Amino acid sequence: MTDWTSLLNRRQMLAFSGAALATAAVGPTFHVARADDGFLEIAAGPAKKKLLSEGTAEADLWLFGGSLLGPEIRVTVGERVKVRLVNNLEEPTSIHWHGIRIQNDMDGVSGLTQEAVAPGESFEYDFVAPDAGTYWYHAHNRSWNQVGRGLYGALIVEEVVPVFDREHDLTVVIDDWRILEDGNLDQQTFGSLMDWSHAGRLGNFLTINGVSDPEFRLSRGEKYRLRLINVANARVMPLNLATEKTKVLAYDGQSLPEPEEGPPAEFFLGPAQRVDVMVEADEDFSLNFVARDDSFPFARFNVTDSDGSQGHIVWKPAISNLPEPDLETANTYSLEMTGGAMGQMGEMIYNGKVLERSDMRETGQLWAFNGVANLAKEPFFSVQKGETVVIDLTNNTAFEHAMHTHGHHFRIVEREGAEADESAYWRDTFLILPRQRVKIAFVADNPGKWLFHCHMLEHAAAGMNTWFEVV
Ligand code: C2O
Ligand code: CU
Repeated sequence: MTDWTSLLNRRQMLAFSGAALATAAVGPTFHVARADDGFLEIAAGPAKKKLLSEGTAEADLWLFGGSLLGPEIRVTVGERVKVRLVNNLEEPTSIHWHGIRIQNDMDGVSGLTQEAVAPGESFEYDFVAPDAGTYWYHAHNRSWNQVGRGLYGALIVEEVVPVFDREHDLTVVIDDWRILEDGNLDQQTFGSLMDWSHAGRLGNFLTINGVSDPEFRLSRGEKYRLRLINVANARVMPLNLATEKTKVLAYDGQSLPEPEEGPPAEFFLGPAQRVDVMVEADEDFSLNFVARDDSFPFARFNVTDSDGSQGHIVWKPAISNLPEPDLETANTYSLEMTGGAMGQMGEMIYNGKVLERSDMRETGQLWAFNGVANLAKEPFFSVQKGETVVIDLTNNTAFEHAMHTHGHHFRIVEREGAEADESAYWRDTFLILPRQRVKIAFVADNPGKWLFHCHMLEHAAAGMNTWFEVV
């Protein structure tokens, strides 16, 4: 369970929020240069930006395209996404296209699907976006460091027949940053084993689309799609959308057949998860961060009279034809999650060797899947293309985790102790509570080597990382 008392600087965050930049109407940037060969050029590089108000230091960040929140990439389903990543950082990097059922060599996982792109070098990503929905991209080399410094952006795949026009389709990228009083990023604590062994790097300052406490302007009585994306390194966001007429349209990029009631008054968005919500407001409302005793708004939606434009066209979701898992013939692979603070480790293998307790500080390996920390030579499992896989996870740790499969969406077919049936939804990332057991199922139909890891990026770096193979 997320420990909200450890929202260490909650008062500070509130204080910071109050002192923040004047509210600005906020939208993603689209300033991407397109080269003659049709590639969007996105450079990853250092940049100074103000996170806090005027008069404080600029923060030393690493950004895509120099903007807080990398350039938003929008394509139509079935279209090719062509991006040339230019690495202006001093360390190697790569881009992962989170949630896209992508061809394996474009998945951007350094060390598994490609070599990390060296400083000064570039890499061309070229793939088809097969499903309409809300996705995002982020660095996938030393992600705990690179994503935490700002290397991420939204990837929106639009329906062929637009469901909302652009004005009524809002991207809401949520991040928490760990900043110092002077407004700079707290850089010293990157790699802190305290974070790695506990809940990961939790921030103390929230932004939406790179802005603190932004204001969106909506027209009264018109329907909007809000695409909520949690890009935080480790924070599960407890949220409340304080308005009445809302419907859930999609989870993790995959449309529901029909809009559903929801989301509930308090809902959780884990790291890397997305939810698309349709709102129709008569009055101003806010997006609130729900804490035990002091919830607070961190984005405002100001509603003014409509000019009568018709934003919401018709609900005709682009449902993907994901292959339905066949539980009868499925192969089940069990995975026990261990380690971390207040957990038992038992014997742990790292790089083929038994790790001694005394090695942990040096290797930073603190968590394990089935006793193995991080990627082994052999995959967790290897299956034939088209087989149904069930992963049966038991979280024997004291922490909550956000588990993510690369290249595949899955259904949650069983969750211990849960009342709600989640099996109707496709997801690419799910939360598992401490001591909980969850089974997910999917058809392994995408050939290649795929990661399966915790999206709390410090946990992944510290061992919660494995891979499977589809042949
Ligand atoms: Cu969002 Cu392994 O990634
Ligand atoms: Cu985790």
